[in-house]
Amino acid sequence: MSKFLSSPQLPPGTKPLPTQVAGHKYGDGNIGCLEVDDGTILKLVQNPPNGQRELDFYDEIFKSTYDNTLIELRSFVPEFHGVIHGETNGGVAKHQYLKLENLIKKLSKPCVLDIKMGRKTYDPEASPEKVASQIAKFPPVLQLGYQFTGMLKFDTDKNKMVKYDKYFCRKLTEKTMLIDGLGEFFRQGKYYRKDYIQAVVDKLKSIETWFLNQKKYAFYASSLLLVYNASVDITEAQDIVWCSEEKEEKLDSMEDNKIDLNYESDINQTYDRLKEEGSDETGNSSFNHNNPDRSFVDVRMIDFTHVFPSEDRDENYIFGLQNLIKHLQSLLDM
Ligand SMILES: Nc1ncnc2c1ncn2[C@@H]1O[C@H](COP(=O)(O)OP(=O)(O)OP(=O)(O)O)[C@@H](O)[C@H]1O
Ligand SMILES: [Mg+2]
Repeated sequence: MSKFLSSPQLPPGTKPLPTQVAGHKYGDGNIGCLEVDDGTILKLVQNPPNGQRELDFYDEIFKSTYDNTLIELRSFVPEFHGVIHGETNGGVAKHQYLKLENLIKKLSKPCVLDIKMGRKTYDPEASPEKVASQIAKFPPVLQLGYQFTGMLKFDTDKNKMVKYDKYFCRKLTEKTMLIDGLGEFFRQGKYYRKDYIQAVVDKLKSIETWFLNQKKYAFYASSLLLVYNASVDITEAQDIVWCSEEKEEKLDSMEDNKIDLNYESDINQTYDRLKEEGSDETGNSSFNHNNPDRSFVDVRMIDFTHVFPSEDRDENYIFGLQNLIKHLQSLLDM
């Protein structure tokens, strides 16, 4: 990720993406992902080779008119709207950005989870130091084949956003991932959103079918972004169950790494703005009556900075994906 000596200048009409859960975020000289008001985000093209690799991959996915593997892949990734050139220096653009569909859009109660896929999260060109640091970050990945890198949840009990930082994610284990990780993401109050879990499983199975049929690409350190809207009227949701009390006690011990975002934070300001724009006195967003904001769930593949050409099925990704599907299905069976 590019470093800057002073606060980076952002392209006009953009601001740091308030729902960014993982990766390099705005601040400390980084730019990160930026929100644009037209329903897109700008992702800074990182220094070579990673940034160019991701740019080339998006180009390939969206330009091809004959390759069915790529045409099919389009529905599993954010829409790509080309490259934006940022501030210039002597006529040369200093920064480039990928313009991508914003997967969170204007959700009134956004819940976002970034899951990095694969047992191996380092690419074939990684240095021994990079390999060692990747392995040390989250050893249970060898069994799980996937790992959480960040999570943000609108908690309907607290009526505010709760952020689960990278330390929360790294404290998860093979044993606790199901309930304290996946379960926690889909838990609202005392309920699991089983309707949303089922929708995610269906989508992941389509992605699995794509992976089982392609031998052109190997995805290292790529993520799945899970997104849903937490409706306030939880009782309206179908197929929701109580979480156990024992679970709540366990979660209390991880409380340090869950941060209730205060109302001054960007994301809560966004939430308040949405409430003002479209709420009735019960706190329900009125724009829900006209569009499907109230029930919204999505899964997309993101982060292609380490996608490499291949001649075999991507067993590394498939292992994690099948495990993730299995784990979500066992949540459904609870
Ligand atoms: N299309 C999108 N819509 C909404 N949010 C997104 C989108 N793409 C990325 N994000 C948010 O930004 C975060 C980081 O994105 P991404 O993984 O692409 O970049 P990164 O991790 O900084 O890149 P790298 O891993 O190469 O450093 C995601 O976890 C997610 O919260
Ligand atoms: Mg990432």
